[in-house]
Amino acid sequence: QKSGYKHFMLKEIAEEDESVRNTIQSRISENGKILLDDEISIDKGFIKNIDRITIVACGTSFYAGLTAKPILEKYTGVKVDVEIGSEFRYYNYIYSKNNLFIAISQSGETADTKEPLRMAKEKGIKTLSIVNVKESAIARMADSCIYTLAGPEISVASTKAFVSQLAVLYMLAFYVGQIKGKQIEKKAKMLLSIPKLIKTTFNNTVEAAKKLAEEYHRYKNFLYLGRGLCYPLALEGALKLKEISYIHAEGYPAGEMKHGPIALIDENTPTVVVAHSKEPLYSKSLSNCEEIKSRDGKIILISDKQADIVDETIKMPEVDYELLPFIYVVPLQLFAYYMALFLGYDIDQPRNLAKSVTVE
Ligand code: M6R
Repeated sequence: QKSGYKHFMLKEIAEEDESVRNTIQSRISENGKILLDDEISIDKGFIKNIDRITIVACGTSFYAGLTAKPILEKYTGVKVDVEIGSEFRYYNYIYSKNNLFIAISQSGETADTKEPLRMAKEKGIKTLSIVNVKESAIARMADSCIYTLAGPEISVASTKAFVSQLAVLYMLAFYVGQIKGKQIEKKAKMLLSIPKLIKTTFNNTVEAAKKLAEEYHRYKNFLYLGRGLCYPLALEGALKLKEISYIHAEGYPAGEMKHGPIALIDENTPTVVVAHSKEPLYSKSLSNCEEIKSRDGKIILISDKQADIVDETIKMPEVDYELLPFIYVVPLQLFAYYMALFLGYDIDQPRNLAKSVTVE
């Protein structure tokens, strides 16, 4: 049921606070302990000695993995590889001695994620899955499954599953850190405040995203840029725009702009820049904005800080830098939604796409 919303996609974006709350509330204690012992049957001795984490997924689930990679590396202290399922299945991956394999999938039925999981199991690698659909193939196949409790996601464009996957990945990072004796409680407690912040972000940005879409929906090409934690969000923002509004959009790490994509920029190619003012390379993101401006490119900035150089800003609430992906993705999803709405497309069932891709 759409509960009064015009489309499932908008309803599901509006439910993101609830999805994250359901995913974390019984798994983080008030004093910041991660309570995943019952769900992860993998031996604690193994977890203590994990020497690499390999994440395999497709589409938005892949971007969730990419977003969480630096967080996982920081709190677990081990190298994390994030791989695309359709490539991984034909690639001779060299596992390390104590490798943990993680498959991420909303549907739990994606063929290109399922096959790498089967291959990892065949090699005797310890496997874990992060899945939204109960009792799906990927949930059943892995040694352990941590469910995202996002509720059913109907819209083909994945939204609430993404933030819920992030929530599980962050908890997992803290859980491994906790087992290794790291101080994770402060950050884990901060995670508990995220659902409220997602709600605030939705309420504060929904009208701005709609207004921008009204103004920008006739452009044919977009560039999305970000650095650090904002880089995978640029990829995800571009994917959302492509799949439901059929507008060509490229996501790039902002520093890579000068290595090619800058050639695309003119008055007809707007750029969406995602930048948190506390990120280590914030001033460099602003330099990118200057380079775009000097080529007459329009800029939409998604940030907690206004910048004079840009054309439009979606002002974000203050948030801890490491937790920004949970809220910075919201206006990107909303912008894509309203772009497709103004263009009159079938938002929940975009052409050529299926909710679950069970064939190769
Ligand atoms: O069900 P999964 O998470 O395994 O699906 C993976 C992708 O097919 C999926 O995320 C796809 O990219 C979405 N339509 C993106 O919005």
